[in-house]
Amino acid sequence: MKTSAALLATLLLAAAGPAAPAEPAIDRETLTRPLPGLSADDTERFLRGRSLFRQSWVIAPARDHEVDGLGPLYNRLACISCHAKNGRGGAPSRPEERMQSMLVRLSVPGRKPGEAPRAHPVYGDQLNEEGIPGIPGEGRVQIRWRTHTVRLADGTRVELREPRTTFVELAYGKLGPVLTSLRVSPHVAGLGLLDAVPASALEAMAAEAQPDGIRGSVNRVADRRTGALAVGRFGLKSNMPNLRQQIAGAFVGDMSITSELFPDENCTPAQTTCRRAPHGGKPELSAAQLDDITFYVAHLAPPPRRNDTAPEVVRGAAAFAGFGCAACHRPTLSSGDSPQYPALAHREFAPYTDLLLHDMGPRLADGRPDHLAGGRQWRTAPLWGLGALAAINEDVGFLHDGRARNIEEAILWHGGEAEKARQRYAGAPAERRRALIAFLQSL
Ligand code: HEC
Ligand code: HEC
Repeated sequence: MKTSAALLATLLLAAAGPAAPAEPAIDRETLTRPLPGLSADDTERFLRGRSLFRQSWVIAPARDHEVDGLGPLYNRLACISCHAKNGRGGAPSRPEERMQSMLVRLSVPGRKPGEAPRAHPVYGDQLNEEGIPGIPGEGRVQIRWRTHTVRLADGTRVELREPRTTFVELAYGKLGPVLTSLRVSPHVAGLGLLDAVPASALEAMAAEAQPDGIRGSVNRVADRRTGALAVGRFGLKSNMPNLRQQIAGAFVGDMSITSELFPDENCTPAQTTCRRAPHGGKPELSAAQLDDITFYVAHLAPPPRRNDTAPEVVRGAAAFAGFGCAACHRPTLSSGDSPQYPALAHREFAPYTDLLLHDMGPRLADGRPDHLAGGRQWRTAPLWGLGALAAINEDVGFLHDGRARNIEEAILWHGGEAEKARQRYAGAPAERRRALIAFLQSL
């Protein structure tokens, strides 16, 4: 039996003609690969940046000043603690579990529209759970999930969960009136291409009305290098104008490592022991180090497309267009001139985002405005890489706070400008919904 089955398989393969080109394999390294064709010098630079992304930072003063400066207050020791293999993080399932790849943004009400969030006078703009010896970490956030069930048109029931957060072990007194926003780490491949999309292209998309009454808007934030206002594109509310500033912001916000763009440790005036702690140089991260790590993140290859000619995936692509998903999740964007990184110039790529802000309705709202982004607005999440994430990390969470355990749950949370698209999905037959998910898994 076995032999004849094998023979039949061989015959069928032979009948199919020459083997189709192999699909790129998805493995844990899928999002860690460089763009193809880097020169030897550039490859060296990529590897230098990669070490900075992967290494654990240590407390100052250390013998090696290249790697010290961690804290006084921080969240994790390394970029990869939250961005393991450049993939996505997930949310703890029980309140006793610590957040591994998440953070909580904080601010107090009362800023003028368009301004940066006003940092909390004692806890700053992000809860730092850890402190170096002698300096207590700020506290911890526990997540409890509240679930409810939605029914799709064909009777299928889907359980959704949303987080309720409690602050515990607060070391610097009561929080008082505060705006909070829970964030899970997004995957970070292909970002150099997004950095190289001309601001004028983003403005042009924001000026175009889309079907279903959809219209994206740009955020405007200070470019700390030039001092001018610039269009935002990184961060989940597009509050960072470029990749270099986003990365410098992560260094100071998540690990309290200062750089030329963020020269001050994140100790508030009320945190006196924090302010007196030793530091690892002024700034702690050199401009050359910031350049190398930015080069690394910028030159990570976008996730490879797979199975795009499989019949189910082709039907799913049609459903994606038919449901109105592409009004925000724009299939393709193009980079412009990129004098700094020529390898990224004038490329067309498929991130499935417009990088613009959209009102996603009250259920996804965090109520914490950030520059021009309102409390109900989020940047359209890029959909490339969705199919690779589960192969990279065990527990991945979708949407800004990781509440969605899979792609279907993420779709069913859409509201606001995306309400009609959600309804079309929920009203579609199971076969069409499955095809849509198969398409998203192929990106
Ligand atoms: C504590 C977990 C944590 C650590 C540590 C961390 N990140 Fe992040 N990262 C996040 C979260 C959460 C976001 C989304 C932030 C937001 O919008 O508020 C993010 C966003 C980003 C983005 C923007 C992605 C996008 O699509 O806009 C980049 C790039 C990035 N991080 C790089 C880094 C680098 C480089 C480091 C190390 C210096 C680092 N991160 C350390 C959690 C972390
Ligand atoms: C009005 C704009 C808009 C439309 C229309 C829209 N989305 Fe989204 N989508 C977003 C935004 C914004 C987010 C991020 C929301 C958040 O993080 O809370 C998102 C997030 C997602 C995510 C989660 C991705 C991640 O990395 O967490 C998936 C999956 C997704 N959308 C799929 C779809 C599909 C499929 C459709 C069509 C049925 C659709 N979206 C229609 C704006 C839109």
